[in-house]
Amino acid sequence: MIEDKFLKINNIKIISFLKKFDLPIYIYNYKKIIFNLYKIKKLKFYVFFSIKSNNNVFLLKIILNTVKKFDIVSINELKTLLLINKFKPYIIFSSCGKSLSELIIAVNFQIFCINIESLQELFKLYFICLKKKNISLMIRINPNIDAKTNKKITTGTKLDKFGILLKNLLQCILFCNLSKLPIIGYDFHLGSQITSLIPIKKLFKFIKKLIFYIPQKNIDIGGGLGIDYYESKSIIKFNNYYKYVLKLKNYYKLNIKIIIELGRFFFGNCCIILCKSNYLKYNNYNKISILNTSMNDNVRPSMYNSYHKIESNNFGKKIKNFFGSICESSDKLINKKQIRILNNSLIIMFSCGSYCKVMSNNYNSKLKIFDLIIYKNKLKIIFKKEKINYLIKNNV
Ligand SMILES: Cc1ncc(COP(=O)(O)O)c(C=O)c1O
Repeated sequence: MIEDKFLKINNIKIISFLKKFDLPIYIYNYKKIIFNLYKIKKLKFYVFFSIKSNNNVFLLKIILNTVKKFDIVSINELKTLLLINKFKPYIIFSSCGKSLSELIIAVNFQIFCINIESLQELFKLYFICLKKKNISLMIRINPNIDAKTNKKITTGTKLDKFGILLKNLLQCILFCNLSKLPIIGYDFHLGSQITSLIPIKKLFKFIKKLIFYIPQKNIDIGGGLGIDYYESKSIIKFNNYYKYVLKLKNYYKLNIKIIIELGRFFFGNCCIILCKSNYLKYNNYNKISILNTSMNDNVRPSMYNSYHKIESNNFGKKIKNFFGSICESSDKLINKKQIRILNNSLIIMFSCGSYCKVMSNNYNSKLKIFDLIIYKNKLKIIFKKEKINYLIKNNV
């Protein structure tokens, strides 16, 4: 339950800054971010931050100063990192559709590694590397393992577009050997929001067999560790997950370096959207609230049917179904339990730190909203709300 007057984030009363900013706004909690970074620092693995989950420059600088390693899925993500930092960080380039120019840039910048997803990609690289040879490759293998997660974010089954199936692997390895393209490891990203240990167990069994025939030093198990959107107790804890990975590594006597590419773990649970209920429709057919935030600020519920907990001050009508103001029926979020709200009640939508702002858009000519962070007990703007001319300025 929230009381508007008393609601605080890291000792700052929300009421104190409400007048300065139009709602909705994203608010990050720096202390929570540091807590997550601390957990990651203790791991014995090579952790790469998946920039596609959040590309805010202030947050990227935190990663640059701590983890220093990035998993990119487009060359513009590399360019962003170079624009904000003069030193080249450690970079793995994943993506199943890298363009020729993206591959050329990645090779010229001598990034740490390119994760290859098809034989044709290898052909392209071969021609690029005729002149310049020192680029390391990992082969992304599609192990045909179901990550037991949402279908739309499953990537490791044979019907998915990602990776190279086992039956095509030999061709790739032969080609690399003949063309002297150096393979330094294999990559397996099974999917996102993984909450079960079974897929990881299957993956290690698969890796053991593979390594017996084609030994490698680096194994990239991808990202995908699920975070707790429901605040349920059943989700696998970060430490248990990685203890389990270590246990499997030892059990199968694998002499490998483990690389992981985490996205949502870093910021997912460190950010809320603060918004308002604009309208209540309360009759025999409908008991709904229409919020002033929409699928253009957080597309996850309409895209993946995903859940974000909603809380309010708990006065007024009981509501479970929330909608945004976008002209689409799918702009909808069903809360786990009913909460009481009034017209204009402050509403908090939780766990909006990953795959929300990065996927936000201008549909219905909405403007991208402010990102704020509670940083050293002060409120800091880290993304300014777009201005109306942004909507027309690139039109010619
Ligand atoms: C190649 C790759 N690495 C890492 C990630 C990060 O996943 P997550 O944010 O679920 O940890 C993704 C996300 O889908 C990905 O595609």
